[in-house]
Amino acid sequence: MTINIGVIGVGLIGRFHALTLSHEIEDARLIGVVDSNAKVAERVASETHTVAYNDYVKLLENKDLDAVVVAVPTAFKPEIIKAAMDSGKHVFVEKPLALDLKNADEIVDLSKKRKVWVQVGYQRRFDPMYRKIKEYMNEGEIGDLIYIMSVTRDPPLPNPGVNVEISGGIFLDTSSHDYDTIRWLANTEAKTVMAQGSRVTGQGDYDVTTTTIALSNNAMAYVDACRFSAYGYDTRVEVLGTKGSILVVPVNSSRSNDVVLVKKQDKYEWFIERFQEAYKEELRAFIDSVKNDKRPLVTAEDGRAALEIALAAKLSMQSRKAVDLPLG
Ligand SMILES: NC(=O)c1ccc[n+]([C@@H]2O[C@H](COP(=O)([O-])OP(=O)(O)OC[C@H]3O[C@@H](n4cnc5c(N)ncnc54)[C@H](O)[C@@H]3O)[C@@H](O)[C@H]2O)c1
Repeated sequence: MTINIGVIGVGLIGRFHALTLSHEIEDARLIGVVDSNAKVAERVASETHTVAYNDYVKLLENKDLDAVVVAVPTAFKPEIIKAAMDSGKHVFVEKPLALDLKNADEIVDLSKKRKVWVQVGYQRRFDPMYRKIKEYMNEGEIGDLIYIMSVTRDPPLPNPGVNVEISGGIFLDTSSHDYDTIRWLANTEAKTVMAQGSRVTGQGDYDVTTTTIALSNNAMAYVDACRFSAYGYDTRVEVLGTKGSILVVPVNSSRSNDVVLVKKQDKYEWFIERFQEAYKEELRAFIDSVKNDKRPLVTAEDGRAALEIALAAKLSMQSRKAVDLPLG
């Protein structure tokens, strides 16, 4: 059985997903791409040998369509996701799920009502490095969890200016990856969130932030996000347990007490290169979920939970106070 799929929003990540679906996943057939920018839709349709649309409603009218990938800016996701679910389509949505919990709750409820699967694009759960960490934890290698640190640092943005209105800002857009990773690795929920941030580059959003999270199992977590890592894209995790620690070393360094100096680089890999296999793996898993009616590894509920932590972090930064979950 082949799953007929369309991609809505074929900018940076949507184009990559469209290419993956058209060339790399046997059980998927890309039957259309949509972008409100007609030129972008035409260009990606020609690269992927499919049909271009400017309006997602036209794609949803196709009776052969089974599922969609939604990769538009977050402010526009809920309307599209709900319309897709209302026409019985399964949805893969890029992170974060929505800008607010009302929309996230409506998506969770509607997916149950319409009996369609929703998978959220937290691709780190499909990455070999993160999977290895999870495997060590599951096997009890480091005993009981005490602390997790998760880092996401982006190289300086190619074009200045981050549109907080439509992306939700750094906690939703960047750190929600780390919040999802922490929930997944720790296998527990966040209890209290404290965050701070600073605007160093003046690009319209906070660009250095920290989040401290008390987890329900009494472990602690810490997230560091930055939008101008001169040495390149960097995502790392350290997990400390009662019997040991799991470390991801940034540069080839295995001796204890090594000091590693990482300087500005002109060429570096970015997230598309770093996670290219994980992006493909998450879509393969989504197609498998649709085909075999299997619960996805990253559900709409997971998307909602990561969003709730991000919103709590935003609130904490603004109020300069710790914020308890669940949000009232
Ligand atoms: N998982 C990841 O690592 C990862 C990486 C990059 C982006 N993302 C997420 O993917 C989403 C898109 O990010 P991007 O960097 O690809 O953005 P982008 O701006 O490059 O692309 C978005 C595209 O959506 C189109 N669009 C906007 N509104 C639309 C609508 N109503 N209907 C159809 N098309 C519409 C735009 O014209 C644009 O081409 C964001 O939520 C972002 O956080 C996730």
